[in-house]
Amino acid sequence: MTDAGAKKTRKRAAVPQNIKHMREVIEKAREGGDPDRVLAQKAKGKLTARERIHYLVDEDSFQELDLLVTTRCNDFGLQDKHIPGDGVITGIGRVGGREVAIFAQDFTVLGGSLGLAHANKICKIMDMAVENRVPVIGLLDSGGARIQEGVDSLDGYAKIFYRNTKASGVIPQISVILGPCAGGAVYSPALTDFVFMVEGSSHMFVTGPEVVKAATGETVTFDVLGGGMTHGAKSGNCHFLPRSEPDCFRQVRELISFLPQNRWEKPPRLANPDPIRRTTPLLEVLCEVDPRKPYRVHHVIWQLADEHKFFEVMHDFAKNIVIGFMRLGGDVVGVVANNPAHKAGAIDIDASDKAARFIRFLNTFNIPILTLVDVPGYWPGVEQEHGGIIRHGAKLLHAYAEATVPKVTVVLRKAYGGAYIAMSSKHMGADFNFALPCAEIAVMGPAGAIEILFSRKLKAGTPEEQAKLRVELTDDYKRRFASPYQTASTGSVDEVIEPSEVRHKIARAFRFLENKRQPGEHDNRGNIPL
Ligand code: HXC
Repeated sequence: MTDAGAKKTRKRAAVPQNIKHMREVIEKAREGGDPDRVLAQKAKGKLTARERIHYLVDEDSFQELDLLVTTRCNDFGLQDKHIPGDGVITGIGRVGGREVAIFAQDFTVLGGSLGLAHANKICKIMDMAVENRVPVIGLLDSGGARIQEGVDSLDGYAKIFYRNTKASGVIPQISVILGPCAGGAVYSPALTDFVFMVEGSSHMFVTGPEVVKAATGETVTFDVLGGGMTHGAKSGNCHFLPRSEPDCFRQVRELISFLPQNRWEKPPRLANPDPIRRTTPLLEVLCEVDPRKPYRVHHVIWQLADEHKFFEVMHDFAKNIVIGFMRLGGDVVGVVANNPAHKAGAIDIDASDKAARFIRFLNTFNIPILTLVDVPGYWPGVEQEHGGIIRHGAKLLHAYAEATVPKVTVVLRKAYGGAYIAMSSKHMGADFNFALPCAEIAVMGPAGAIEILFSRKLKAGTPEEQAKLRVELTDDYKRRFASPYQTASTGSVDEVIEPSEVRHKIARAFRFLENKRQPGEHDNRGNIPL
């Protein structure tokens, strides 16, 4: 090497002081909490905030913002603490090649508690998400309002709740609970579209076990009060309950694959290797079996979906109705289906809330709705009436009637009374209504109907004569009413279809509806929690 060449190489190798300083500052800021805090986090089986982002986004796609923001609070010794990024990492990344905005609370830094600067960072990334029309994903792991920062922390939460509400129905908002989420902090996820919790390590509650004990005398563990199963199966606050954090991020990525970036777009269409004319023989079997026999409606959905894939939402809550996403001919379709395996598929308070909010989400984000009907009616009982089945059931009617996206309904088996109306019937605004030949569409089931229609006749004669008459009347009622043909004769069912052709029929219908336009479709719609 010549002297001149060596000089050049030396020159390039020397890092200027300001760049060196920048690297040191960044490295220090990226450290997160003290090593013992990181160890404590790991000991609980939890990932660090940076590891979580790594699992969530496409490789090397995360770009951090506001790394150097820190608190301006000097009370209670905060001035002496190193508070990297103020306990939250924010930035942009890509999921499946599409842009998203992210914030991830870092429990190793002051317990991920939310002070003013922490809140401002979250608000800034949310504002960027809305302005640029991309989904926002929040990873929450926090001790709540930062006690040292007093009312500033509470105001920080208020700013976030305000933005959650304004962003509702504009961009998809996803909350992932990965540790504690306590006090008023729970209301940010509750305002978003989908909440994930990891079994065993996520907790949500307004007041913790100690306050509960003091106020009501009840003794309860963290898990029973606000663990994943509690919110997944009982309260309905949680939509997905993965077993581990890596599994959780895989599911978040899958969910995103079904969603549009914002309310002005449609979800992405994928290449479809599954023939659209593939027959659906399982539905023929359904028409052969005893109509009182329960079955999991998932089998029907798998049979209809591209490659038999169904991404279920709220699997453990109100199992009498099933909701989720599938693809049909490569296009995303939202599914709402009665599930005869639970409560005979009857509609109750929880099922109404679950389905209604999902339908409103689908409508807001331009996702067509497939409704599969097998419903004997509303779940009866004093508890349901006093709990407000009228008020909650009305949400389901409202959601379906309001929805302007393409709506296709298939009556598989039973569709009785008010529940027939509610499940996207023709005059509630469905575009295509199909029925299988084994469908029973009537005001009420044969057994109940004949007792009302022929109560006097059925009380006359000997018990044997009564039993015989009951069988005859039931058969006659079934023949005349409990079939799809009366409904088809009025046009409320467009077509009674071959069970083996259902996949093709519904795909054809959705293709026809691709450019459907209806008044009100551009109205601003928030996805209010129901
Ligand atoms: C400041 C907090 C904090 C908080 C935790 N820390 N929560 N700092 N404000 N809210 C700090 C701890 O002092 C500790 O700091 C570190 O975070 C880790 O906390 P630990 O208690 O050691 O962790 P752990 O044993 O895992 O317990 C986690 C916890 C507990 C269950 C979340 O920290 C806890 O109960 N925190 C308070 C929860 C709470 O009541 N929050 C306020 C809710 S009211 P060092 O320095 O030791 O590392 C609320 C109102 C919001 O949020 C209203 C919005 C409208």
